[in-house]
Amino acid sequence: MLTGKRILLGITGGIAAYKSAFLVREFVRAGAEVQVVMTRAASQFITPLTMTTLSKREVIIDMFPPGPEEPPVRPTRHIDLALWGDVMLIAPATANTIAKITHGTADNFLTTLVLALRCPLIIAPAMDVDMYLNDATQRNIAALRETGCTVLEPDAGELASGLSGPGRMPEVDRLFSEVVKSLDNTRRDLAGKTILVTAGPTYEPIDPVRFIGNRSSGKMGFAVAAAAAQRGANVTLISGPVSLRTPRNVQRIDVGTSKEMAAAVLARFPAADMLVMAAAVADFSPAHPSDQKIKRDRTRGGPFILELNENPDILKNAGAGKTHQIIIGFALETENGVENARKKLSAKNLDVIVLNNPLAEGAGFGSDTNVVTVITASGEVEQFPSMAKIDIANALFSRFAPLLT
Ligand code: CTP
Repeated sequence: MLTGKRILLGITGGIAAYKSAFLVREFVRAGAEVQVVMTRAASQFITPLTMTTLSKREVIIDMFPPGPEEPPVRPTRHIDLALWGDVMLIAPATANTIAKITHGTADNFLTTLVLALRCPLIIAPAMDVDMYLNDATQRNIAALRETGCTVLEPDAGELASGLSGPGRMPEVDRLFSEVVKSLDNTRRDLAGKTILVTAGPTYEPIDPVRFIGNRSSGKMGFAVAAAAAQRGANVTLISGPVSLRTPRNVQRIDVGTSKEMAAAVLARFPAADMLVMAAAVADFSPAHPSDQKIKRDRTRGGPFILELNENPDILKNAGAGKTHQIIIGFALETENGVENARKKLSAKNLDVIVLNNPLAEGAGFGSDTNVVTVITASGEVEQFPSMAKIDIANALFSRFAPLLT
């Protein structure tokens, strides 16, 4: 099942470290090569000798080994290993290591390796309930998820302290299947492809302090960008105003208005292999934005009428100029979804349209999950169940990467 796969297994100092021994055994049995990297604290919980024996490779703990090693260690071993791995799993991951990774600290071999990593990173937090629920830990986990790391939910139950709650490391079977899933999603089937992704809302100024915007969080587009980068694409993410971190290995361009987004997209479209237009572009913008803040007394008690102009349809323009590109659009519909999405697909010359209904259960603005129906130009309609946005992104690429010949 894992023949030829290279797994980096990070182990940090928690009582669950003993379960990682079973994990290594399962990976090796399934045919994987496993390189174990431990922190000093982890070696208090399980011996490096155990892990070396099970993995059949020397465990790495220190950046600078205490004595001369045979054969001599390359000074760039952390970079070599970062490039070697197909996936990295940190299990158990302590609150301390999670915090360090979030902030880019590189003060031991494990955290230095993570900083140089290009492959997917899966983190299995394991700690006491209060440490897990602590606001600092939760913010760090949220930040890591935004950059495209998979942070697993810990199991809930009795903990080493005698307290009860979330904080137990997931069982070996689940960790194993997360690694398999991640390897499946990282078939590098987009290697060498240039993918343009848009995300978030656009803000259309009314005056220097006010704008017309919408409630798009950008999460769907950022998930698409993260998934494409993990599968080996050169990804440019053109983002409207959002408060999200840039996914790993993604080039990001920030824009404000729909006109700026149109310019950024259309300049790069000819050289792209695929455009995924997940942005919620405003359809209208104020016809005469004011240079100065509009004062309340301007209307003298009468109605304030804001004149709006129609914005360029970026997707339609891209579709009209399509040569070899595959174009995936999104449609936001609250009624007659499939029918309306089909019309958009043909009017904008798309290959695929992803229909969302923000009112559906498990969908909506700012949510980490979404419920979509995927419609292709050749007429196929597939309804996905409620899924994490990153899983939807991967499912789209699993289906449509083969179109990029
Ligand atoms: N889109 C775009 N440029 C616009 C408006 C929308 O490129 N000015 C893109 C969106 O990024 C999305 C697709 O078109 O991929 C569909 O957007 P949607 O708002 O659902 O459709 P509209 O064409 O704007 O139609 P309507 O608002 O009437 O439903």
